[in-house]
Amino acid sequence: MRKIMKQYANIKTARTLPFVTLSFAMSIDGKIATRTGDSKYISGPQSMAFVHRLRDRHDGILVGINTVLADHPRLTTRLANGKGHDAARIILDSQLRIPLDEPLLHLVSTAWTIVICRKDADPVRKVALERLGVVVIGIPDPHSPEGLREALIRLKGIGIRSILVEGGGTVHFSFIEQRLFDLVFVTVAPIVIGGETAKPAVGGRGFATIAEAAQLRFVRRITAGADLILEAVPANPVEPTLEGA
Ligand SMILES: NC(=O)c1ccc[n+]([C@@H]2O[C@H](COP(=O)([O-])OP(=O)(O)OC[C@H]3O[C@@H](n4cnc5c(N)ncnc54)[C@H](OP(=O)(O)O)[C@@H]3O)[C@@H](O)[C@H]2O)c1
Repeated sequence: MRKIMKQYANIKTARTLPFVTLSFAMSIDGKIATRTGDSKYISGPQSMAFVHRLRDRHDGILVGINTVLADHPRLTTRLANGKGHDAARIILDSQLRIPLDEPLLHLVSTAWTIVICRKDADPVRKVALERLGVVVIGIPDPHSPEGLREALIRLKGIGIRSILVEGGGTVHFSFIEQRLFDLVFVTVAPIVIGGETAKPAVGGRGFATIAEAAQLRFVRRITAGADLILEAVPANPVEPTLEGA
């Protein structure tokens, strides 16, 4: 990771998009939550410590609104030595569904909380969030490929040069479908969750054919306690590393 991010550091000024890392913890059968939505905790303490180191190395952490509603994550950096910086917390929430009493909005943290919504989302909710210190970025359609790209460009424009995407499966597919990622860390825990309605690591509508599927290349395998962390990069990155330059 260090090497890839270092390479990126040399080209980041030439890019209009931030460096994007996807990270998720899944069961051996590719699930990130059970059919009842339970997801705490799939991976062990060593892999979680690894994720906190990843958070420390990125400017922003991005999740979808369903992850916020299901897990109430803090998205802060908690390193074993008590050091590390909090990345900006970024939530994709087109309709501003985030409750105003969501714990994430009331943290003692110097990092920004940013909500990406539709430009025409409820202005009253927008003002209420801004009163809590949240940066609200409105774009025409956050769900569309152009919208996601625009969101990333806007984030880069306010100084967010790297983003760690931490779920859920719907958001993962959006980034993967649009090839808007540079690096992937998949933590595989030795458990089987099963169930047709359990949340998959990558959801959305999925690719229709194997020919369309995103092709990756493994670069490293890390043992973290009982878990395996697989590091992969796009097999055929668009130059330089991601397009958008
Ligand atoms: N094990 C792990 O590592 C892990 C990590 C994270 C989450 N999870 C689990 O994942 C589950 C939630 O995943 P999920 O797939 O249901 O939801 P999600 O990916 O967290 O959120 C999806 C929602 O984000 C909003 N969104 C806005 N723009 C989007 C875009 N361009 N692409 C995709 N979504 C966009 C949409 O809601 P609007 O239409 O309202 O905007 C969409 O329904 C929870 O059960 C959670 O526990 C597990």
